[in-house]
Amino acid sequence: MIVLGIESTAHTIGMGISSNKNIIANENHMYKPKKEGLIPRKMADHHAEWFPLLFKRIMKNRNMEDVDAIAFSQGPGIGSPLSIGYFAARYLAIRYKKQVIGVNHPYAHLKIGEQSTGLRNPLVLYLSGGNSQILFEGKNGLQVVGETLDIGIGNLFDSFAREIKMKYAHGSALAELAEEGKYIKLPYNVKGMNFVFGGLLTKSIDMVKKGKRKQDVAFSLMETSFSMVCEALERALYLTKRKSILLCGGVAQNKRLQEMVSVMAEEAGVKFGVGPDEYNKDNGAMIAYTGELLYKYKKPVDFWKPLTDYRIEDMRKVLLKKRKG
Ligand code: FE2
Repeated sequence: MIVLGIESTAHTIGMGISSNKNIIANENHMYKPKKEGLIPRKMADHHAEWFPLLFKRIMKNRNMEDVDAIAFSQGPGIGSPLSIGYFAARYLAIRYKKQVIGVNHPYAHLKIGEQSTGLRNPLVLYLSGGNSQILFEGKNGLQVVGETLDIGIGNLFDSFAREIKMKYAHGSALAELAEEGKYIKLPYNVKGMNFVFGGLLTKSIDMVKKGKRKQDVAFSLMETSFSMVCEALERALYLTKRKSILLCGGVAQNKRLQEMVSVMAEEAGVKFGVGPDEYNKDNGAMIAYTGELLYKYKKPVDFWKPLTDYRIEDMRKVLLKKRKG
């Protein structure tokens, strides 16, 4: 079976193909603004421009007749870019008479993470720009046991990078700056298995304004926020008694974070896994792969609209339908 997947929840438009649960194509393009932050309308324009180019690339030497279904990233995401992927999927479905499958974006990160690491039923630390959650898939569907109570950890890094006027205001550029930094004490705010980043962001910006070295504050901001999620994750590990930890999402590409979580996992005596960067970034391949997994549900829910605040727990309805056959 062959599924074509489309990703467009935020800054990246992506298309991928999954064939019998193997990724055979993955083409993505990220919108990178030169000065301003991520403006929804501009992301949508970028995605609309790149969709036909990526479609041509992945369909080179392939035929739409061989494709069984079109999967699209249904949410959560930003309305304007999300709607481009939705209409692209709908266009292809009508044009080539295919079934459409809506895919929850965090669930796709989880499933491609399991596939690429070989972990089964792990405790999941999912960290990206807009989402920061600790969750697992159990008998009754998906359960979020801890999460940010305000902004996502990626947004924390991007907002700080923008405030200190970095040329490329992105977490990956901040991580490079942090390499030359020394530790300074910053606010640390964990509440059980949840965490709060707002105070940490305000204090970090304030310290740079008061003359502290950007490198030192960047390093300390990353160390502090990673320590916070690790503390919450360790608590969740003992509560859920999972035997492994999967790290996934855009921020999972950070090597320091990978090191911290792997040390924690080793000390707790559980396995640790993180997928390759190409699947932790937003990408079409994971949507195609997860769409293939969900294909067996004929009409589980109304798949025909994007959901900007689609929570992973809502996948429960889909998964319970599958169990009943
Ligand atoms: Fe993502």
